[in-house]
Amino acid sequence: MEKFVINGGRPLVGEVTISGAKNAAVAILPATILAGGRCVIENLPDISDVLVSLQILQALGARVRMLNRSTYEIDTSRITGTQVPDDLSRQMRASYYFLGALLGRCGTAQVAMPGGCNLGVRPIDQHLKAFSALGASYAVEYGRIHVDGGQLEGAHTFFDTVSVGATMNAMLSAVLAKGQTVLENVAKEPHIVDLANFLNMMGADVRGAGTDVIKIRGVASLHGCSYSIIPDQIEAGSFMVAAAITGGNVLIKNIIPKHLEPISAKLEQAGAAVEEFDEAVRVYRTGDLTPLKIKTMPHPGFPTDMQPMMTVLLSLAQGTSIITEGIWENRFRYVDELVRMGANIQVDGQVAVIEGVPRLQPAPLRAPDLRAGAALVLAALAAHGISEIEQIQYIERGYENMAGKLQGLGADIRRVQTAAAPIPQAL
Ligand code: EPZ
Repeated sequence: MEKFVINGGRPLVGEVTISGAKNAAVAILPATILAGGRCVIENLPDISDVLVSLQILQALGARVRMLNRSTYEIDTSRITGTQVPDDLSRQMRASYYFLGALLGRCGTAQVAMPGGCNLGVRPIDQHLKAFSALGASYAVEYGRIHVDGGQLEGAHTFFDTVSVGATMNAMLSAVLAKGQTVLENVAKEPHIVDLANFLNMMGADVRGAGTDVIKIRGVASLHGCSYSIIPDQIEAGSFMVAAAITGGNVLIKNIIPKHLEPISAKLEQAGAAVEEFDEAVRVYRTGDLTPLKIKTMPHPGFPTDMQPMMTVLLSLAQGTSIITEGIWENRFRYVDELVRMGANIQVDGQVAVIEGVPRLQPAPLRAPDLRAGAALVLAALAAHGISEIEQIQYIERGYENMAGKLQGLGADIRRVQTAAAPIPQAL
């Protein structure tokens, strides 16, 4: 096990290059199963969730070859199994995308439910609703979800809630179904559009991704292709906040500025300057941080995955900020760690009231999950003195070489070995 040791208090200055989007990659890799051929996927982030996805593909019979650190060739001509090994699927919540992809290609799939009672906390009822509409049946047995459908038939699904995962899984299962599928009240995140573009590149007929309604005309077969994954909106947003919170000046490269608009708008309101270029943004501070009200919402609203980073930033603003979490029931668990650093934050259900303080104090910290872990890194970068962050395996599920990229901006951060600890459940 490793931890980060951060000597905070230095402004970050320089340039950083953003990696491919985790939440696109973890859907596009399973989608290669639908090709029944050879795909070359570029701009894959070097993170543990991608490695687990590649291992699952291999376990199912796909041939996986690394062409360079961010490019893999995946040949899914022969798929020899439809059951994702439990030990792999439990490491990653997004293993549920193998349900949709295997169902679409093979008419059946089995994937372990990540973390036992997650149907309660992070339900997948909307994924199952879409599979059922296409004619599949499902059952949960021995902690595994089984879906069976044979030849699926296109159908109409109106989602009860806007869900990224259910939208993507429905798309995966419907592209080879017979006839037309209409998905309404769908998610519109950039990774939804990226998955649609990839499916279309393989010969699918998916229209409307990025709007509330997606229409899919089933095709008889797909083929392999080469595809480059979009840049990671949340990694970019995290570096934007890092620049603002340390009073630095950072050029964030390999991004799509349009995807960052909800984040740029709030950062500007909070007192940072955001200059847009074609494929980059520069972020720096123009004065003191000012308090904000934010509510997280599905895209194009403010992304829930940036909520912990904004809480850290606003804990140093002059005045009272209010953050309302509009997506997840329990996404303020990290606030206790910030309070131990001297932040003044009260949480009541899904609302956090933040009274800005002049500075944060360094402290020993534990990353409770991926995005909260990244937020604690930002807090430690802002706090003058040495903080240590344990459980960084959570952070490394979603951020490629975070320490190295921060070092490139002048941060004093080291990744050091600690005593062994159990592998945590996937978020
Ligand atoms: C994706 O999770 C992301 N993960 C999450 O990012 C992100 O926080 C979330 O979308 C929202 O943007 C991946 O893409 C791998 P949802 P997902 O289905 O798809 C409810 C990160 O840090 N819901 O859009 O699982 C659900 O409880 C991760 O990178 C149902 O009720 O999220 C939640 O309240 C963390 N029934 C809301 O919808 C369902 O069947 C949105 O969840 C599905 C979801």
